[in-house]
Amino acid sequence: MSEFTDMIQEEILSFLPPEDEYIGKLVASMKYSLTAGGKRVRPMLVMEFCRLCGGKEEAAIPFACAIEMIHTYSLIHDDLPCMDNDDLRRGRPTNHKVYGEAVALLAGSGLLGLAFETALSPRAVELNGYEKCARAAAVLAEYSGPRGMLGGQVIDIESEGKKVSADHLEVMDLKKTGALMVASCLLGCISAGASEEQMKAAKEYAENIGIAFQIVDDILDKTSSTQELGKPVGSDEENDKSTYVSLLGIEKCREISRELTEKAVKALSAFDAPSDELSDFAFYLLNRQN
Ligand code: IPE
Ligand code: IPE
Ligand code: MG
Ligand code: MG
Ligand code: MG
Repeated sequence: MSEFTDMIQEEILSFLPPEDEYIGKLVASMKYSLTAGGKRVRPMLVMEFCRLCGGKEEAAIPFACAIEMIHTYSLIHDDLPCMDNDDLRRGRPTNHKVYGEAVALLAGSGLLGLAFETALSPRAVELNGYEKCARAAAVLAEYSGPRGMLGGQVIDIESEGKKVSADHLEVMDLKKTGALMVASCLLGCISAGASEEQMKAAKEYAENIGIAFQIVDDILDKTSSTQELGKPVGSDEENDKSTYVSLLGIEKCREISRELTEKAVKALSAFDAPSDELSDFAFYLLNRQN
């Protein structure tokens, strides 16, 4: 995995504009968050689904970079004082702590734009053709926007300090976290030219690992340490967030996240040669410590 994360980092940086005298600070702040580490879960999903559906890995790389840019943008904005107001991310001071709020806001938006530039870049088009690139851009737009991650972030903020139902939390987690996971799996499928049926199974896998991923994140916010997570623990309680953990408690959440992971793995049986890698990956995400 560390080889993979190094490769993705190098590829992502190749799509950044140069740090010139005009936009150098903006580019530096984007680079700061992109190179701070991170598990690169979403690029991994892109590549694995591309492989599973018989595609060429190289062709999926621009799409893998694009989704990680959008994820990184979501983290920069998520940490802002007007959102979760956190000071540490990926083991480093958050973007706005180093570059100030205005540049952090622009760096996030900059990464969103750069993600589309990347998915529609000459390199992406050369490897995938215009049609697949257009489909990839449509997926990135839908799942990152108001119907997807952004919508989930709004539900998250509006649910602070309230007692909301488990159904409400499911919609929230499916959007704020599941949506980029779904997009990742679909991007891999699109690059490989997967069938509708394969895309449906990929979506089912992604939705289940997506909700499980957020529940595990909420558990770790309570049980882990800042050192291990690289971000502040106790942030959810401090912000009076509504989470599965605050509603149902840790033990019940462990059970639910395990069930969701098992459901995800079951969805893989729709593929001719079910992927051990993706099954192992779902359990790695369930049992992760950071
Ligand atoms: C954190 O995502 C935000 C959530 C959706 C819970 P990750 O846990 O994938 O963050 P990085 O990329 O590894 O830093
Ligand atoms: C964030 O959820 C989901 C995003 C879309 C960024 P959290 O607010 O729980 O993520 P962390 O714990 O700050 O990484
Ligand atoms: Mg948040
Ligand atoms: Mg947060
Ligand atoms: Mg969290």
